[in-house]
Amino acid sequence: ATNRTFTMIKPDAVQNGHIGNILAMITNGGFKIVSLKLTQLTVADAQEFYAVHAARPFYGELVEFMSRGPIVAAILEKDNAVEDFRTLIGATNPAEAAEGTIRKAYATSIGENAVHGSDSDENAAIEGAFHFAGREQF
Ligand code: CMP
Repeated sequence: ATNRTFTMIKPDAVQNGHIGNILAMITNGGFKIVSLKLTQLTVADAQEFYAVHAARPFYGELVEFMSRGPIVAAILEKDNAVEDFRTLIGATNPAEAAEGTIRKAYATSIGENAVHGSDSDENAAIEGAFHFAGREQF
């Protein structure tokens, strides 16, 4: 069924000038953009968004990275959106990302990996609502 996922173009990829090319890969991949904004997470926002990773050794580094500059947040719509978007972005570690994926093209390390993709329908809805009011979801 047609459903939704949530993505962020992370501070590394925004800083490096890849917003346009990444959005092109997303739309060429068959995803419809239903919400879109340039924004920045505060430290508290990043801590909350990544609370599930709070016990991980990389949590502090992740929060610092994700709050250090602007990001692009978007809600995307497609059949099988969550799974197909994770295929399009590629493995978390860019060294393991397949040819043709967004992370293969633009990620620089396992931490600074250019894009986020929700890992479940439930998290896609939670993450989308974190960033967008109902009237911003088209
Ligand atoms: P993502 O899968 O979008 O959400 C969790 C993030 O944690 C992941 O992207 C990476 O940015 C980061 N991350 C995962 N593993 C590591 C790691 N070993 N070292 C640093 N950051 C990591």
